[in-house]
Amino acid sequence: MSEPELVIRFTDADAARELRADVREGLTDRPKWLSPKWFYDAVGSDLFERITALPEYYQTRAEQQILHRRALEIAEITGAATLVELGSGSSEKTRLLLDALRKNETLQRFVPLDVSGSALRAAVESIAVDYPELEVRGVVDDFTSGLAALNAGTARLVAFLGGTIGNLLPTERAVFFAAVRAALRPGEWLLLGTDLVKDPDRLVRAYDDSQGVTAEFNRNVLRVLNRELGADFDPERFRHVALWNAEQEWIEMRLRADRPMRVRLPEPGLTAEFAEGEEIRTEISAKFRHNRVRDELAVAGFELRHWWLDDAEDFALSLAVAR
Ligand code: SAH
Ligand code: AVI
Repeated sequence: MSEPELVIRFTDADAARELRADVREGLTDRPKWLSPKWFYDAVGSDLFERITALPEYYQTRAEQQILHRRALEIAEITGAATLVELGSGSSEKTRLLLDALRKNETLQRFVPLDVSGSALRAAVESIAVDYPELEVRGVVDDFTSGLAALNAGTARLVAFLGGTIGNLLPTERAVFFAAVRAALRPGEWLLLGTDLVKDPDRLVRAYDDSQGVTAEFNRNVLRVLNRELGADFDPERFRHVALWNAEQEWIEMRLRADRPMRVRLPEPGLTAEFAEGEEIRTEISAKFRHNRVRDELAVAGFELRHWWLDDAEDFALSLAVAR
């Protein structure tokens, strides 16, 4: 087994600088907002793994079912020698792809990229043990600003699973797709997981589970701000809110102040005032339809070749080729 590599392109200093800038912008805006990438410290990454096992959170199981059925086909179609995974987290489902590509005898290199160093380190170590013949190179980076990891390798397949694309705003999504396309050569591939528009009650339950794990995940961002910026949020004074925005076709997670509050954030030198009931938007999770995925990919220079659904038609896996 060759030792797995871990390249840190997004350092703690980068994270601290960006977090300060984001907080200064987001908490002085109206309505207030924070970027969802700050959820994923070690605690947040563990909470996300717990979410994936919740009865209400169908996405992970649905995507797993599709991958289970289609991984061999994906391996045959793409013949990938390099698998790059963006927002890879634990890379648990990705093992289905690694198995199929190994069987197809084309895969040489696996490059998972994630902003969460703790999740990435654990994934890389475990995959290197289970796939000793693979060259494994983890990259800690922000996929909205750095896709340098994509430069490595030939015959590339870029996987972006879990529906994480839905956590970008539409304008950010367009920039992201264009950047992925710009990094690829014609004939290389993008495998994209998207959650689909469905009954709003089911969607809201998936983001407001009965065990309160998603609520803890949501509040965790305030704990990150307390630790990293010396802020004095009292997370228990913020109620978890998940609602369906029918016009935008996305779920919004918010944190609602249960009383008027003044929060000090010494690092950016900011005092954030909250009225009773005032909210911070912490995440959007967009839900998709076939035509939107096809059209957005086309604008970026990808051609959608396959659109696979799970049995319940909750989730889609798209395979698109760079034109
Ligand atoms: N792909 C996995 C994990 C999804 S959770 C799955 O399908 O289960 C979202 C992952 O994206 C987390 O691991 C988080 O750390 C990562 N992430 C979120 N924003 C990111 C960003 N801007 N750049 C890189 N990784 C990011
Ligand atoms: C990572 N991402 C696709 C998850 C989602 O469903 O939007 C994050 C999440 N937020 C709440 N629960 C899970």
